Amino acid sequence: MRVLGIETSCDETAVAIVEAPDGDRPVGRILANVIYSQLTEHRRFGGVVPEIAARAHLERIDGLLADALAEAKVELRDLDGIAATGGPGLIGGVMVGVMTAKALAFAHDKPFLAINHLEGHALTVRLTEEVAFPYLLLLVSGGHCQLLTARGPGDFMRLGTTIDDAAGECFDKTAKLLGLGFPGGPAVERMAKGGDPQRFALPRPMWRKPGCDFSFSGLKTAVRQTVEKLPAGDKQAVADLCASFQRTVGDVLADRCANALEIAALPTLVVAGGVAANTYLRGRLDKVAAEHGVRLVAPPVDLCTDNGAMIAWAGIERLRLGKVDALDFRPRPRWLLDAGVGSPA
Ligand code: KG4
Ligand code: ZN
Repeated sequence: MRVLGIETSCDETAVAIVEAPDGDRPVGRILANVIYSQLTEHRRFGGVVPEIAARAHLERIDGLLADALAEAKVELRDLDGIAATGGPGLIGGVMVGVMTAKALAFAHDKPFLAINHLEGHALTVRLTEEVAFPYLLLLVSGGHCQLLTARGPGDFMRLGTTIDDAAGECFDKTAKLLGLGFPGGPAVERMAKGGDPQRFALPRPMWRKPGCDFSFSGLKTAVRQTVEKLPAGDKQAVADLCASFQRTVGDVLADRCANALEIAALPTLVVAGGVAANTYLRGRLDKVAAEHGVRLVAPPVDLCTDNGAMIAWAGIERLRLGKVDALDFRPRPRWLLDAGVGSPA
């Protein structure tokens, strides 16, 4: 089974072709995974501009599609399905991906699959490793921070979510305040390597409270107040603040996952989404998992941030279950993962 996946929900235009063995055996093979990051388009604005993103997706998508097919050495007629992110995301971009996928599906008479972007992240581990359902899932990206039980494609139950900001958003904001550029996560991680994680005591919202919810706005404010007091040009202080910030996020994520592991009692903890690319945080979660006698599984770093392979793989998982979408599917700016994929949020 071979499925093409298109991702256009934010600032990456991505196309991939993924192959899966017949039957129910997990683990797929990536035949092509091409991506265009719109960094240059958005950098001078310090963040993603939705209209610019939508236009850039439109300009790049055909070329990337041709590149992916050439790299995979397959023709459109050899595919078994065409998947695209159907939401949640910046609606102009989602429309570009969905319309492209629908046109290909219609013209080549292939099944069309509208994928929830969060489900793409949630299932990526199964593309590269044998991970059985159900598993506990920490989904940490630029727009989301949630703990869920993943029971199967389209079958998620939420244990907790952020009551204000997402973890990735907090990384991005910290980087912006420190003048480290965009996107912030990788920049903060790099700076933190040379810093003292104990130097700054920052608030840990929700830490040691019952339940699995998150909150990051207090931490964001504390970072801003600390930055305002930093002596100008003190590079070591910047590194120390990055390390202290990262440690604080690690404390919170570890604490929330510990609660979730006690509530859900599942054998596997999976971390997914852009923030899961952070090596330090992966280490912290590995430790919590070990303390609870469970296994931590994280996708390879380059499959944590947005890509087409995760959409193609979610397409394969859904196609295997016959969960195909109609061509009148409407792109969704909002789409809860636990509302049951396929039902409107
Ligand atoms: O999943 P993703 O690529 O896009 C969304 O669906 O939001 O996640 C992007 C987020 C950004 O906030 C980015 O700063 C963060 O993931 N991120 C990281 C790292 N790499 C990306 N955060 C911390 N450490 C990283 N290495
Ligand atoms: Zn994402």
